[in-house]
Amino acid sequence: MATAPTKVEEPEQENPLTSGLERQPIPPTTLTIFGATGDLSKRKLLPALYNLAHEGALPERFNLIGASRSDMSDDDYRKLAKGSIQEFSRRETDEKVLDALLDGVRYVSGNFDDPGLYERLDTALGESDERAGIEFNRVFYLSTSPSFFAEIVKQLGDHGLDRRESSDVRVVIEKPIGTNLREARELNAAVLDVLDEEQVYRIDHYLGKETVQNVLAFRFANGLFEPIWNRNYIDYVQITAAEDMGIGSRAGYYDTSGALRDLVQNHMLQLLTLLCMEPPVSFSADEVRDEKVKVLHSIHPPGPEEVSEMAVRAQYAAGVVAGEAAKGYLEEEDVPPDSTTESYTALRLEVDNWRWAGVPIYLRTGKRMVRKVTEIAIALKPVPHLAFREEGAVGVQPNRIVLTVQPNEGASISLGAKIPGTRMRIRPVNMEFLYGTAFMSQSPEAYERLITDAMRGDATLFTRDDEVEAQWRIIDPILAAWGAESGPIPQYEAGSQGPAEAERLLQPGHTWRAI
Ligand code: BG6
Repeated sequence: MATAPTKVEEPEQENPLTSGLERQPIPPTTLTIFGATGDLSKRKLLPALYNLAHEGALPERFNLIGASRSDMSDDDYRKLAKGSIQEFSRRETDEKVLDALLDGVRYVSGNFDDPGLYERLDTALGESDERAGIEFNRVFYLSTSPSFFAEIVKQLGDHGLDRRESSDVRVVIEKPIGTNLREARELNAAVLDVLDEEQVYRIDHYLGKETVQNVLAFRFANGLFEPIWNRNYIDYVQITAAEDMGIGSRAGYYDTSGALRDLVQNHMLQLLTLLCMEPPVSFSADEVRDEKVKVLHSIHPPGPEEVSEMAVRAQYAAGVVAGEAAKGYLEEEDVPPDSTTESYTALRLEVDNWRWAGVPIYLRTGKRMVRKVTEIAIALKPVPHLAFREEGAVGVQPNRIVLTVQPNEGASISLGAKIPGTRMRIRPVNMEFLYGTAFMSQSPEAYERLITDAMRGDATLFTRDDEVEAQWRIIDPILAAWGAESGPIPQYEAGSQGPAEAERLLQPGHTWRAI
């Protein structure tokens, strides 16, 4: 008797390029944004929430509350949030997703030092828990001017909003944490007077960038690189964060900050620590941060007489960027004509430990440079002996590993290869991995990852109190030495590679990579 052929179930085909992209569930959470009508909230936080909603990556039960000084109704705030998301989201918005996200959004208004604001907030939080019949976790995101950070945390404590019996309360704090070591210590102390360190999530948005996290994957998921990741094989390291933009309308903030505080103290030192840290025992928040803090403690803060040898600062002068005329820093709106604030800084640091002693680590960052690029370049030492005849050896260059954080995220390794032909001639070629082509997905914005981690309770990608203070320990003496100088500072043409003065930091045989 013939039997009907049984249908063989085809195993569901997984797309190898997207495997591993799934997300973990997050407990029910109410997120309150302080400074909900501000620039960061409109440009980054609200669009990040929309993109998470679009991907189904928000907690299944999620509430959003905006808190700010402007007086407006829930409905007005929903409209403002909708407009900002439509303008700044990285993907086209879908009305249905947008409406579902904003449907229950609440808004509470008041000055951040007004107890009434916290009473209204307490009521709003209580009402949404009551409606749901459970206690939601609470995340308070401080996206206000830094001068309010301590006050908001104090008020949260005064109103009993700092802890709950059966759910978690976390506070996310934006940068900057102080403008020097003393202020950072004061702010940390004020915050930790109310909260436990485990509740505090200090943001450095560079840690939320996919390619910054990839530094850890690159180093610790490959057996190939770790054996050479030390002073025996690495000649020098160069970390660049160049921007083509000027300061725009941010003079009020920027002129009191400068490039050293704005980018080096936080983002660039984060890149340095990830690159130089020892392998952690596990990827738990404290194991990773312990290792990062050790790197910062291995960097010797310069004495006053050492600063001029290891640090350069400059301001952009008028020039041309991307074919358009650009003003000089001193001509920017609201910048005092005698300002000595640097829009560029380059440093030569050394991580004085067993692995890195003697390897210069060059950092440079600047506004209005020729293009935007953030990268870590590792220059390896030359081979000890070249057996090729003179003519063949001409194009031989030491290998370089370049980790590109943005744009064109990826990694490349330069290798010496034989030029095809009958002669033995060599030139460098690149072996490249590009995020865009290897994974079929667009990288999430840094804030998407960081907001998710804060809601999930994973502080690995946030800066701990001792870490911020260790960063300032390195920066403070440079600020002090510059503060003691008078008169104008060097300039570089807008749209250029930066000031010629940066050359003096380089040791013999080292060069700045073309930006
Ligand atoms: C911010 C600085 O922290 O980082 C800005 O305040 C800078 O001045 C920005 O432009 C750079 O971030 P990104 O993600 O564009 O490299």
